[in-house]
Amino acid sequence: FIFPHSVSLLPLLSVLSALCLDCLVAGDSCSSDENCSPRLRTLRQCVAGNGSMKLGPGARSQCANAVSALLSSPLHGCQCKRGMKKEKNCLSIYWNHVLQPHLIHPYFSCDILFLTLVPSADSDVGMTTVNRCLDAAKACNVDDLCQKLRTEYVSACIKLTAKSGLCNRPKCNRALRRFFDRVPADYTHELLFCPCTDTACAERRRQTIVPSCSYEGSEKPNCIMQMRICNADYVCRSRLAQFQYDCEPSKTSASGCKQGNYGACLLAYTGLIGSTITPNYVDNSTSSVAPWCSCSASGSQRDECDSFLGFFTDNICLSECRRRRRPAPRRVCRMGITLTARSLDCLTMLFHLLQRPHKTFYWTELYILMDFPSIMSSRFD
Ligand SMILES: *[C@@H]1O[C@H](CO)[C@@H](O)[C@H](O)[C@H]1NC(C)=O
Ligand SMILES: *[C@@H]1O[C@H](CO)[C@@H](O)[C@H](O)[C@H]1NC(C)=O
Repeated sequence: FIFPHSVSLLPLLSVLSALCLDCLVAGDSCSSDENCSPRLRTLRQCVAGNGSMKLGPGARSQCANAVSALLSSPLHGCQCKRGMKKEKNCLSIYWNHVLQPHLIHPYFSCDILFLTLVPSADSDVGMTTVNRCLDAAKACNVDDLCQKLRTEYVSACIKLTAKSGLCNRPKCNRALRRFFDRVPADYTHELLFCPCTDTACAERRRQTIVPSCSYEGSEKPNCIMQMRICNADYVCRSRLAQFQYDCEPSKTSASGCKQGNYGACLLAYTGLIGSTITPNYVDNSTSSVAPWCSCSASGSQRDECDSFLGFFTDNICLSECRRRRRPAPRRVCRMGITLTARSLDCLTMLFHLLQRPHKTFYWTELYILMDFPSIMSSRFD
């Protein structure tokens, strides 16, 4: 293709990047700004609880002033990207700066801009195939990133260390998180949520995340204890907050979900895989899911425990999301907000096709995902 000089593309991308400002970048840009950085320093002291000592008698108003000044800085509304480099640092900025009153969890919903070009014949076939689990595995194998990261986690999870004869669980979980954070949901969700009608299929689906290494043990720990461990870790705590927000059930909503967003709920569910509360299918004869923990011996915390576990096992929103999900149309190109040579090619191809409609391909969708999960949810029935 000849590159038509992409007039409107670069500004578009920079707008998107600005809207999806991550807290690390926001923190850096504040620190290097002479108006912003003293405010940030003040706020840090306020947050650390040392405000009144270091800031003197006027501390309360100084803290309030710092907060209101920072509300117009890039830190306000900054978020983090799942699986990003230094995710933990980003999350700690998020949770420690009380500047996000309107946000419930720290993760972006606007991190991906992708383009879909669908061959006309294939798109119909895609919807009627018999064995979606098998198709999902094949689709993953032909995508470079999916294939690579899947191979990585499988080998990390099945490898036994010479010393103990056991697998390396932390390494397995890290590799699983990389897979679910970096590979587009079209692949990962289809592998995990494809429908099964027999136990062999259900068993393969259950084995997708290598339970024997990623979470199973000789006995189930108590769920409240697991929840505490999770909340003590920025990443796990953020994933859980995202899951509880996006998969909150509702009896009155037709979708079963309070947020009404299927894509977001499934994305939040997979965000927990590789954490202390990794959820998975409990057996090969049902499609119930739960983390590896139990509520027996919870004593006075029985109710709290049951409601935590019930959020997985008895959640109309989560079960509807899984049931209604449909495979995505075949994608020819996709892109993130970081502009690469390949994504530019893809855009160029798209613009080229728009100008001169092609015989075999027609463009069906240009997702500019300001709100990634909600547009994704349009692919559900
Ligand atoms: C206050 O700050 C000092 C160091 O500047 C630290 O050692 C101390 O633990 C802090 N106190 C509180 C209550 O955070
Ligand atoms: C289903 O699970 C049971 C219990 O773990 C196991 O014995 C059986 O072999 C599994 N079935 C298949 C088809 O893998």
